[in-house]
Amino acid sequence: MRALALAALILVAPPAQGAFAQAQPAFEAKQEDVETLPDGPGRDETFYGCTACHNFSLVSAQGMTRRQWEDTIHLMVERHNMPELAEAEQKVMLDYLEKHYPPRTGRGGWRNPFAQ
Ligand code: HEC
Repeated sequence: MRALALAALILVAPPAQGAFAQAQPAFEAKQEDVETLPDGPGRDETFYGCTACHNFSLVSAQGMTRRQWEDTIHLMVERHNMPELAEAEQKVMLDYLEKHYPPRTGRGGWRNPFAQ
């Protein structure tokens, strides 16, 4: 019984609050928020539709034509088991992706190697 009480005491003892421990901010995974995306029709559908499986940063890092976004969605369906979208739903998402994540061109910009 004594050993158990001692074990319990050790378990509930607060961690040492040294200066070093306090200087380290707790790690928090960066949360993605739909509010950080460019506003416009289709934003919520696209954000929640695509983040069901992965970070939106995987999407926003891309810049593609409508055609390529469409291919990407088909790829998600065929290769990654994304439930097929209703036509209207897909159109809303494509409108949004085409408008806000077009191919990036111009000097100095990042070029999507798949967009050539
Ligand atoms: C059913 C799950 C699922 C959904 C929903 C989904 N994806 Fe994906 N997606 C994946 C997986 C799995 C990968 C590959 C693994 C990884 O890189 O994390 C991926 C990767 C990607 C990539 C990186 C390129 C590649 O082929 O690896 C892009 C771009 C992408 N998805 C776009 C989208 C867009 C846009 C949507 C919303 C319309 C979407 N995804 C919705 C599962 C999904």
